[in-house]
Amino acid sequence: MERLQKVIAYAGIASRRKAEQLIVEGKVKVNGQVVKELGTKVSSSDKVEVNGVKLEKEQKVYFLLYKPRATISAVTDDKGRKTVTDIFKNVEQRIFPVGRLDYDTTGLLLLTNDGEFSYQLTHPKFKIDKTYVARVKGIPTIDGLKKLQRGIRLEDGKTAPAKVSMMTADEAAGKAICEITIHEGRNRQVRRMFEAIGTPVVKLKRERFAFLDLGNLAPGEFRQLTQHEVKKLRVLAETGKLD
Ligand code: URA
Repeated sequence: MERLQKVIAYAGIASRRKAEQLIVEGKVKVNGQVVKELGTKVSSSDKVEVNGVKLEKEQKVYFLLYKPRATISAVTDDKGRKTVTDIFKNVEQRIFPVGRLDYDTTGLLLLTNDGEFSYQLTHPKFKIDKTYVARVKGIPTIDGLKKLQRGIRLEDGKTAPAKVSMMTADEAAGKAICEITIHEGRNRQVRRMFEAIGTPVVKLKRERFAFLDLGNLAPGEFRQLTQHEVKKLRVLAETGKLD
């Protein structure tokens, strides 16, 4: 069962707020009866009409975006900055990002209009691996990298064990490139982890999400996931395994 205003918004008819307004104004019927209660819950078998037009379920869509720098992982931004959904101007479905990448982080970001799919892929209990390449200031010590591998105490608790490796280290320039795989998705987690060992991140890119990578996409480009990939992601989230 879902709240009526959410169902209307998901069908792509209106924003959540506009949907609430339509309900209060008596423009919405459930099974032939006008409903003005905002808390009303409906199921997929209920017939919902808005202004006399039956609601059709929006087709579910799934995209893989190479998120460019300087974009917000949100549908709208109150400061008027560019959002990832601005890149999808020609897509009529109301898609939203699955999780978040920071404004300055680039790389693989999924977008969909499937709320349940998004929940499965972002909830920490489903443990989906995400791999990042971080350019850091300074050279991490072996001890520092081990701390990240074991889990490191941050202000919101200890992180789960991570896979970490140093790909290059430039002693003269005092910088290094590391690869790190985590399955949690806390706010600015990778940046905070490297900060905690004294080598702050200067550039961050998400290279992989589960078994998906960026392939030949350039920043700002996207493609649709295949049905097979969507199914595989669902199975992975539900079972923790790929087959
Ligand atoms: N960790 C971060 O610090 N930033 C991101 O954008 C993603 C993971």
